Amino acid sequence: MVPLRQIFLTLSTLLFSQICLASPLLTDDQVKAVMRKSNCFKCHSELENKAKDAPSFQEINADVKGRPNIEQRFTRRVTTRTKAEVKNKEVDHEPLKTKDEAEIRSVVHWIMTR
Ligand code: HEC
Repeated sequence: MVPLRQIFLTLSTLLFSQICLASPLLTDDQVKAVMRKSNCFKCHSELENKAKDAPSFQEINADVKGRPNIEQRFTRRVTTRTKAEVKNKEVDHEPLKTKDEAEIRSVVHWIMTR
């Protein structure tokens, strides 16, 4: 019979290597390229910009400050089609044009650090 200790060691090694293998975050330029491709900057800017019809990512962060599960909240918002109000009109809020987990995680992280 395999000793319990052996099973535990194998499992923890597996878990540890999974964590180490988790893909690293993209650079700022790569993140912006994904967002440009997805038309995010059509409505949003990085910092405050009165010419845009949507809050800047900096304002978005200020709005959610102190709330729990911001990463989850943003991830859901950028991966599903939702509705947003632009100039008093309801429009589709399209998700990112990528299914790549590292790209999505990097975009969310980028938004959260503006
Ligand atoms: C048609 C204009 C438009 C486009 C394009 C757009 N957004 Fe938005 N977005 C908005 C508006 C308006 C809001 C604020 C109102 C709301 O939350 O519905 C918003 C809100 C958000 C929020 C905040 C949600 C929250 O939890 O408070 C995030 C994050 C976000 N957008 C990310 C993105 C990303 C990433 C893209 C590109 C894939 C994108 N948006 C494209 C208009 C847009």
